[in-house]
Amino acid sequence: MVTRVATVAFEGIEARAVDVQVQIIPGSVQFAVVGLPDKAVAESRERVRGALIASGLALPAKRITVNLAPADLPKEGSHYDLPIALGVMAAIGAIPADALGGYCVLGELALDGTITAVNGVLPAAIAAGARGLGLICPAPCGPEAAWAGGDLDVLAPRSLIQLANHFKGSQVMARPEPAVAASAGPLPDLRDIKGQEGAKRALEIAASGGHNLLMNGPPGAGKSMLAARLPSILPPLTPRELLDISMIQSVAGELRGGALSTRRPFRQPHHSASMAALVGGGCHFQQTLRLI
Ligand SMILES: Nc1ncnc2c1ncn2[C@@H]1O[C@H](COP(=O)(O)OP(=O)(O)OP(=O)(O)O)[C@@H](O)[C@H]1O
Ligand SMILES: [Mg+2]
Repeated sequence: MVTRVATVAFEGIEARAVDVQVQIIPGSVQFAVVGLPDKAVAESRERVRGALIASGLALPAKRITVNLAPADLPKEGSHYDLPIALGVMAAIGAIPADALGGYCVLGELALDGTITAVNGVLPAAIAAGARGLGLICPAPCGPEAAWAGGDLDVLAPRSLIQLANHFKGSQVMARPEPAVAASAGPLPDLRDIKGQEGAKRALEIAASGGHNLLMNGPPGAGKSMLAARLPSILPPLTPRELLDISMIQSVAGELRGGALSTRRPFRQPHHSASMAALVGGGCHFQQTLRLI
């Protein structure tokens, strides 16, 4: 029999559906992960084995095959540990076979069976909601997942044992609450700028009308200083903007403790920086370019 667990693969901030299929059959003792896994995914075998043993579950002395479908989509990251472990647990009867049907699962495992934080929980939660599924994610990421909507069923366990107890009904977990990061001090203020009345007026018009600004002037004229003060006169983030910005921060691993920041992001790359220096190179270059 094949046990299936839903999870995701990230393409930029897009969470694509991935199906983790676990099959345990008689044969030579083996634990294989197939379906274009990268090094971190291939190594998840060892973390899953260690976490299951630490949780009091021994892997059966049989042939365990894990397939990550679709097989032609590259899988990277450590968030496949938890869906693989839960697939094995369901296959050996440690949790009810039908318990996982309604959930999308992501999380990394430590060798002692605790579930550690991963990137991209917010886009995964939104994708799970769109597919009509709930989400199982690490406890530190629970507040982030809770932002995806009040009707999304979110389970944020600390360990495999806590999750198994939840499914058995002996220790039912509460839904995590969405969290907002405490403000990191006041934003730079327009009143710091001496004179420059024309430039300040241009800044206000651009902010209220949502226009682009081109700043031109000699070094030290205050261009960067003016630009850094623009977020302070922009309106608060709309819920849609907050989600868009937070999804990027989530995939980049910049959300501290799963709390979303209501502060408008401000970047100041140098004007002579090349496109590759701005958005990074490597195999994700094209993906990143598509995002911006
Ligand atoms: N109108 C101003 N009021 C107060 N301080 C100013 C003003 N203009 C410039 N400064 C001071 O000069 C510093 C340099 O300004 P800033 O870095 O904004 O210049 P810039 O136009 O961006 O220069 P560059 O072209 O070299 O990037 C500021 O950090 C600020 O301390
Ligand atoms: Mg400057």
